[in-house]
Amino acid sequence: MRSATKIIHHPGCVCEQTGAVNFPIYEVSTFKQDGVGINKGYDYSRTRNPTREVLEMYIASLESGRYGYAFSSGMAAITSCLMLFHEGDHLIATEGLYGGTYRVLTGIFNNLNISCSFVDTSDMDAVAAAFKDNTKAVLVEAPSNPMMRVSDIRAIAKLAHQKEALFIVDNTFMSPWLQRPIELGADIVVHSATKFLSGHSDVIAGLVATDDEQLASRLAFIQNAAGAIPSPFDCWLLMRGMKTLAVRLSRGQASARRIAQWLSTRPEVERVLYPGLDTLEGFELHESQSDGPGAILSFILREGVCAETFVGSVSLWTLAVSLGAVESIITLPSMMTHLSYPKEILKKLGITDNLVRLSVGIEDVEDLIADLESALKKTISGE
Ligand SMILES: Cc1ncc(COP(=O)(O)O)c(C=O)c1O
Repeated sequence: MRSATKIIHHPGCVCEQTGAVNFPIYEVSTFKQDGVGINKGYDYSRTRNPTREVLEMYIASLESGRYGYAFSSGMAAITSCLMLFHEGDHLIATEGLYGGTYRVLTGIFNNLNISCSFVDTSDMDAVAAAFKDNTKAVLVEAPSNPMMRVSDIRAIAKLAHQKEALFIVDNTFMSPWLQRPIELGADIVVHSATKFLSGHSDVIAGLVATDDEQLASRLAFIQNAAGAIPSPFDCWLLMRGMKTLAVRLSRGQASARRIAQWLSTRPEVERVLYPGLDTLEGFELHESQSDGPGAILSFILREGVCAETFVGSVSLWTLAVSLGAVESIITLPSMMTHLSYPKEILKKLGITDNLVRLSVGIEDVEDLIADLESALKKTISGE
C-alpha cells in the first residue's frame, strides 16, 4: 500500500464493534474487572487505553515498525526514550538540535551522569570520532532544526550498530509521509506529534515507533512506569489530524519550494537553507533518504536587515514557537525555540539573530509571499 493510502486506511481505524469510521474516544481512567485480575485486556488507562492503542498502531504502521507508543508531548517522548539509558552511559546528539532536547540532555540527564557529546552529525568523521567506550546511542534530528543540516541516516545506523549503540531519529521535520528512518536502519523514531502529525496547533503530543521487540517492551515499561501519556481525547484529535497529513504536507511543501526560490532572489537575503534547493549542503543525500524536502525552511537576512523587526512586520504569518500547522508560522530561533542554548554556542552553530525559520502552511502561496515582501519593505524603510 502506498503511503498516502496507508495514512487513511491504517490498522484499527474502523471500530470493529460498531463499524464507526473513526475509532471512538474511550475517555476512561479505569475498567471494571469481572473478578480480581480478570478483565477484557484493559485495567487502567495509564497502562493501556483502547483509543491510545489505535494511535500507537497507526504511528507504528506509518513508520514501518511493529510497535508504537504515545506520550503527552514530544519532550515526554524524547525523555522516555532517554530513560532507556543508565548512569555512566554516553550519548551522541546532533549539535544545534531542538532547544528543549538540548535542555533535557544538559539540565536533567547530565545530572544523572548520562553525558552527551553534541556533534555535527552531518559529518561522519565527527560522528565516528565522538564514540567512547560507554557510548550507548546516537540521537539525530534529520534534517536538523533550524540549520537544515542533513545527516546520513543509513551510514549512522551502520556505524552505531557496529559500535553496539542504538540509533534514534527525531523525524518531526519530515513526518513518516516523507521519511521513514526505520526503513533506513534506525532503531527508534521519535516525533513531536504536536507538529505535522497533528497539523492544527490544537494538541501537544509525542509519538515513538520501533521495530525491535526488546526495545518495545522497555518503552512500554517506561511509558507505564513514568506515565507521561496523552489523554484519550488528545489521541483521537491527533488521529483526526494525521488523516490529512499527506494533503497538508504536499501543499505546504509545494509552497515552501516557491518561497525558498523567491527568497533566494531577494537582495535582503544572504542565504536560504532548504532541502529542496540544490545549494543546500547535503541536498542529494536528503533526496536519497526521503520523499521530499518538506515544508520548513530557514534563511539568513543580510547584515543591516533586522530580523526582529522583520518577523514583527508580517501580518499573515503567525509569529510563534511551533511548526507543521495549517497556518504558516514564522520564528526567530535564537530568541524563541533555541533560547535554552548559551549565546556563544548559538553563534558557533550559526543560529544567529538574523536567522529566520518558516513553517509553510496551506494558505495561498501568493498571499504568503506578498506578506513576506511587504514585511521586508517595512523593515528596510523603517516604517
Ligand atoms: C524537532 C523537535 N523535536 C521535539 C520537539 C518537542 O516537542 P513538544 O513541543 O511536542 O514537546 C520539538 C518542538 O518544537 C521539535 O521541534
